[in-house]
Amino acid sequence: MKIERLPLARLTTLGVGGEAEVWTVETLADLQKATQAPYRVLGNGSNLLVSDAGVPERVIRLGGEFAQWDPSLQGWIGAAVLIPNLLQAAARLGLSGLEGLFGIPAQVGGAVRMNAGTRFGEMAEALAWVEVFHQGRLQVYAPQELGFGYRRSALPEGGIVTRVRLKLTPSSPQAVRARMRMVDAARKGQPKKKSAGCAFKNPPGDSAGRLIDAAGLKGSRIGQAMISLEHGNFLVNLGGATAAEMYALVRRVQAVLPLEVEWEIWGEIVPQEVQG
Ligand code: FAD
Ligand code: EPU
Repeated sequence: MKIERLPLARLTTLGVGGEAEVWTVETLADLQKATQAPYRVLGNGSNLLVSDAGVPERVIRLGGEFAQWDPSLQGWIGAAVLIPNLLQAAARLGLSGLEGLFGIPAQVGGAVRMNAGTRFGEMAEALAWVEVFHQGRLQVYAPQELGFGYRRSALPEGGIVTRVRLKLTPSSPQAVRARMRMVDAARKGQPKKKSAGCAFKNPPGDSAGRLIDAAGLKGSRIGQAMISLEHGNFLVNLGGATAAEMYALVRRVQAVLPLEVEWEIWGEIVPQEVQG
């Protein structure tokens, strides 16, 4: 186990956030120790806006045995495994069920917690079992017990996903790859700049990106934080943006549109208006 103070900007795709004490755990015994004081769990940091002051809690990062997986996808898959690696294996093996997650830069644990997905499919649909560490014990849940919905799950409070079993359907590598290409094509309008994916949830039957676009907010900028010109629901870091700037941009959108934030916000953030 490794304990170090690290800037969370380095561990998140948005590239924003101050320092925290990061506990990289490798075994269940490590996890027992790390959870003896207030903590948060970090996946691949692809849905997080972290305060410039960092967070006071321990940040638990899963490594070691939690990054192991059965490459046939028939057995247990560690929560720290990256979704893109699973998709690559599924394509090679011709196993269908994960194609809707193409292009999502999550870890398995983060994808379960957020029920990551697209209109072509979401994480919950591909799960057979989810093992969760909670209050010092491991428990295995069926997906129906975990309250999955649109970008939502109801894991027990403080529960840490440790590994999962998948439920995939035999198909062919060609068919699986064809579906992945279709999902990839639907993402073509998304920007390549630093982001945490879509900032807001879609309201029922509509797209937050379309609404932000129609409101004339694309290109809106506060300091180094900008609403992407390519897709209205991507709030991007042009380089060196602060959490205060990113959050001020969120508030600027919410002043015009009643949208719910999809990002997880870690720590206290005071929005700061900066001319730019
Ligand atoms: P993190 O961002 O690190 O954490 C997110 C939440 O999960 C936090 O609450 C964290 O505590 C919790 N968590 C992480 N690991 C665990 C664990 N092991 N046990 C319990 N809780 C855990 N999302 C979509 O749904 N669809 C998309 O199409 C999509 N496209 C994206 C495109 C880009 C370019 C980017 C940057 C992001 C995109 N996202 C998308 C958002 C993001 O990838 C998802 O929300 C993803 O599920 C986050 O996973 P993560 O591992 O990065 O989790
Ligand atoms: N649109 C605009 N202007 C924009 C953006 C979109 O007019 O600036 C229009 C598009 O032309 C399209 C419609 O809005 O007609 C929907 O857009 P898109 O297909 O891009 O889908 P979305 O609803 O904006 C959702 C998810 C994405 C996911 C894509 C993949 C949410 C909040 N967003 O976006 O998920 O990648 O579908 O199909 O559910 C995420 O959750 O982080 C995320 C990126």
